[in-house]
Amino acid sequence: MNIFFYATYSNEEEFLDTLRKKFKHDKVYTITDKIDLSKIDVAMVWNLPNDIFKKMVNLKAIFSIGAGVDHILKLSNVKKLPIVRVKDPIMRIRMYNHVLSQILIFQLKLNIYDEAQRKKIWMNERYTPLNSELTIGIMGLGYIGNFVALKIKKLGYQVIGYKRKNLSKNTTFEVFHKSSLNKFIKKSDVIVSILPDTKNTKNFINTKFLKKLKKTSLLVNIGRGSVVNELDLIHHIKYNPNFYASLDVFKKEPLEKKHKFWGNKNITITPHVAAITDHDSSISYLYKRFMDLKKNKKIKSDVDVKLGY
Ligand code: OXD
Repeated sequence: MNIFFYATYSNEEEFLDTLRKKFKHDKVYTITDKIDLSKIDVAMVWNLPNDIFKKMVNLKAIFSIGAGVDHILKLSNVKKLPIVRVKDPIMRIRMYNHVLSQILIFQLKLNIYDEAQRKKIWMNERYTPLNSELTIGIMGLGYIGNFVALKIKKLGYQVIGYKRKNLSKNTTFEVFHKSSLNKFIKKSDVIVSILPDTKNTKNFINTKFLKKLKKTSLLVNIGRGSVVNELDLIHHIKYNPNFYASLDVFKKEPLEKKHKFWGNKNITITPHVAAITDHDSSISYLYKRFMDLKKNKKIKSDVDVKLGY
């Protein structure tokens, strides 16, 4: 089969080398190969431009080389194709580690001591809650969110989840739905958003949402930047000095130099690294799905195009 690889990664060359080694029985082309794109069977991509996609008229499937598929759903007429996305166990372990680190910084008030250190202040001790005293609300309970929730729960935190629709999946923690969103927000000390970018999640975390949060609370966003209304967040922090946000994803990446988030002491910024892509592990997953397609001549899409994830 002919594979076309396209990615806007900082280390895309390394990824391509590993991909070519793993897919040694198939041809992996890139844009520099100047191949007739109608001969491509499978595209493995991150941020593929629409004009290139349009020329791949005989595609059998399109694979996202990451967990998100929003970059694929932007392509015109892509919805008829099966879409595969990476489900990498290493990625979700990294996500969990990142979330836990941000909870602990908030819980142990390390931001406050860090700021005091910069001003050479020996601060009086502050009360730090125990794990069992904190409620962690996880929004988005898919492959990654559910795993993060269960691991956090094992550490003794109170865990609750939010999912728009009630899909009656058995969980060991309480799950809130659209009609009980307010309850979910009010109960949480920490909200972790792992929501995808869809028409329903755009600016979901806005002033209306933020106002319902506890005065002392933390928002961790490791899903997509489009979910947070950035101006509303800045405004909320201005009037709530004990509210913190840890953001790994942004509406526009890289975050512009002039963005207000940079200088805000209540905001922690990480540059979309909550779970860096593990090349071997994610390529093994892509390979497994590709071999299924080769064997069965068809593949089930991982994406419900109506829901957008
Ligand atoms: C992904 C991401 O979707 O890194 O894999 O955001």
